[in-house]
Amino acid sequence: MCGIVGIISKEEVNIKDSLLGLLKRLEYRGYDSAGIGFINNNKIQLIKKKGSIDDLACSIKNNYFSHIGLAHTRWATHGKPSSNNAHPFISQNKKWAIVHNGIVENYLELKKELKNTRYLSQTDSEVIAHLLEKQKASSDIEKVINVCNKLKGSFALLGMLVDKPNTLFIAKRKSPIYIMEGNLEVIVASDTICFEGKGSKYYTLNDDEFCVASLDKLTFYDKAGHQISKHAQVLDNLSYSLSKNEYKHYMLKEIMEESDVVSNIIKEYSKNRFTEFNKKFLEKVDNIVIIGCGTAYHAGLIGARFFEKHVNIDSTCEIASEFRYSDKKIKPSNLYIFISQSGETADTLACLELVKRFGGLCVGITNVMHSTLAKNVDICLNVCAGIEVAVASTKAYIAQLVVLYMLSRHFEGQLRNLQIDYMKDVEKLRLSLQKTTFTDIDEIASLISKKQSVTFIGRDIDYSSSLEASLKLKEVSYISSFACPSGELKHGYLAQVDSNVCVIVLATNQKLLDKTLNNASEVEARGGKVVICSPFKTQDKFIKIEIQDIDSDLICCLVASKLQYLAYKTSIIKNINPDKPRNLAKSVTVE
Ligand code: G6P
Repeated sequence: MCGIVGIISKEEVNIKDSLLGLLKRLEYRGYDSAGIGFINNNKIQLIKKKGSIDDLACSIKNNYFSHIGLAHTRWATHGKPSSNNAHPFISQNKKWAIVHNGIVENYLELKKELKNTRYLSQTDSEVIAHLLEKQKASSDIEKVINVCNKLKGSFALLGMLVDKPNTLFIAKRKSPIYIMEGNLEVIVASDTICFEGKGSKYYTLNDDEFCVASLDKLTFYDKAGHQISKHAQVLDNLSYSLSKNEYKHYMLKEIMEESDVVSNIIKEYSKNRFTEFNKKFLEKVDNIVIIGCGTAYHAGLIGARFFEKHVNIDSTCEIASEFRYSDKKIKPSNLYIFISQSGETADTLACLELVKRFGGLCVGITNVMHSTLAKNVDICLNVCAGIEVAVASTKAYIAQLVVLYMLSRHFEGQLRNLQIDYMKDVEKLRLSLQKTTFTDIDEIASLISKKQSVTFIGRDIDYSSSLEASLKLKEVSYISSFACPSGELKHGYLAQVDSNVCVIVLATNQKLLDKTLNNASEVEARGGKVVICSPFKTQDKFIKIEIQDIDSDLICCLVASKLQYLAYKTSIIKNINPDKPRNLAKSVTVE
C-alpha cells in the first residue's frame, strides 16, 4: 500500500537521491506509481511517474538541491495508476504540497464545498491540498487540524508549505506514520525501516494527533489544537537487514531464513513463557476467536485446530473483513486473538476496535512490535521473524504457526496441570527446516507452470495448509489455483478434472491417509496429474514431495515451506518477479 517519506535536512542535499533512497525502503509495500516533491528556488516542484521508483529515478535527469522534500509510492484506489494520479498534490495557489496514505471517504462531498477548483487527478487525496489553501486560521497547524477534522476515513498525511521551507506538517488517523529526529535531519516515514542507520529514536502519533516538525524541534498537538507531550521510542529491531545477501529475491531469502526464525522464537520464549495465561484465567474462557486476513487468516485456521485439539475450548478463525460486518456476538468471556504480520492491516485493526468496545480480552500475534496492533491489544506476542520484505508472506507464516502451537500447548498444560515440553517439538521443527532440501520441487514447478489450474487438497489441518499453499501459488505465479477439502472433490470439483489440471494432495495425517489417497486416485482416473506431499510411503505412480516426519502438529510448517518454494520456483519459471506480484500490496492499510 502507499508509502510516505519526508525529510528536512540541515544541509542542502541532493533531494532526489535522499527521497528516492528512503522511498526504496518502502518498495516492499507494493505500489504502481511514485512521486517526489521539494522546495527549490522558493517554489514547490513535483516530479511523478507511473511505474517503479527506478522508472521515476531514470526520468529525473537533473540534480536538485534542497533542505526539504516529501515523496510517495501509490497503490491505486481512486483513479488508475498514472503520473497525474500519483502523489504529491499541490494546492491551486502552489503553496501547499501533500502526500497521503489512506482513504478520504467523503472526498466527493468535500469537493462540492470547494468552488472554482480545478482538479488535476481523479484521486480522493488531492482535495486535501485544496482544502488547506482555503483554510482561514491563525496558524498553519490550525489549518492542518481543521482540514483533518473534516476528513472521514483514514490518513497518514505529510504536508509542506512554500513559505516554511524548514517545516513538515504531519497528521495521523488509522494509517501508520513515524517521525525520527536526528542531529542533521528529521525523517518522517510510513515504516521505521526508513530510519535504519539514520538514528535510533523516533516518535509515533496516535490517531488524530499532529506534529509540526522542524530541525530544532518537534511540536505535537491533539485534534483540538492543544499542545501535547510525547516520549521518544527506541528502535526495537535494528537487526533489520534489507540486503538480499546472496539471494536473487527476498522471497527465496525469507524461505531460507525459516529455521533461523524458529531459533529466534526458541530464544525469545525459552523463559517466562505466556505467564499472563494462567489456569484461573483460562478456566473462564468460553471460546477462542482468531481474526486475520490473507496468510494470517490461514495461520489462524490452523491455530484454531491446535486449540480445539489440545485445549478443548471451541475455537474459530474469522476473516477480518467479514467479521467486522457480521452479526457475530462479541462476548467478554471469549479470548480474541488477532494475527497480523505487519500489525497494520486495516480490517484486522477495525475488528480489534470493535472487540475492544465490547470488552473481550485481545491478544495480538505480530511481527512488528511497534505496530498499531501491538500498541492496542491487551497482550502482544512477537513472532520474531525479522523484517519480511517479499509481498507474499513466508517466514512470518511459519512463525505465526509456531507461536500458536506453543500457546495452545501452554494452555493445555495450565488447564490439565501438566508440564508439557512443547519446546522440544519446536526444536525438532528447527532442525528439520535446517535439513529441508528443495531439489524435488524443481521438476514439479516445471510441470505446474504449464498447467491451466492447480488444486491443493487435504483433510483437516491439511485442508487449511492447502488454502495457504494455493494462495501462495496464485499470488506469485498467477496460475489459477484452488483449495478443496479432499472429501468435497466429488461434490463439484471433479467436473473440472482433465489433463490440463494438476492436483497436489497434502497428506500428513496417518489416520486419514487412505481416504485422502483414494481421492488422489479419483483424480488420476480422470486424467489429472497428481502430486503427493506427505511424510508417508505412497504408491510409486504418484509424483512425490518428501516431507520429514517430525511427529507433531508442526509438520504443517514443513509442508508450508516446501510449497512456498514451489510457488517461488514456478514464478521464476514464468518470469515473474515473486517479490512484487502485480496488483498486490504487502501491507493493506485501507479497507
Ligand atoms: C496482504 C499481504 C499478505 C498478508 C495479508 C495480511 O494481502 O499481501 O501477504 O497475509 O495482507 O497482512 P498482515 O500484515 O495483517 O498479516
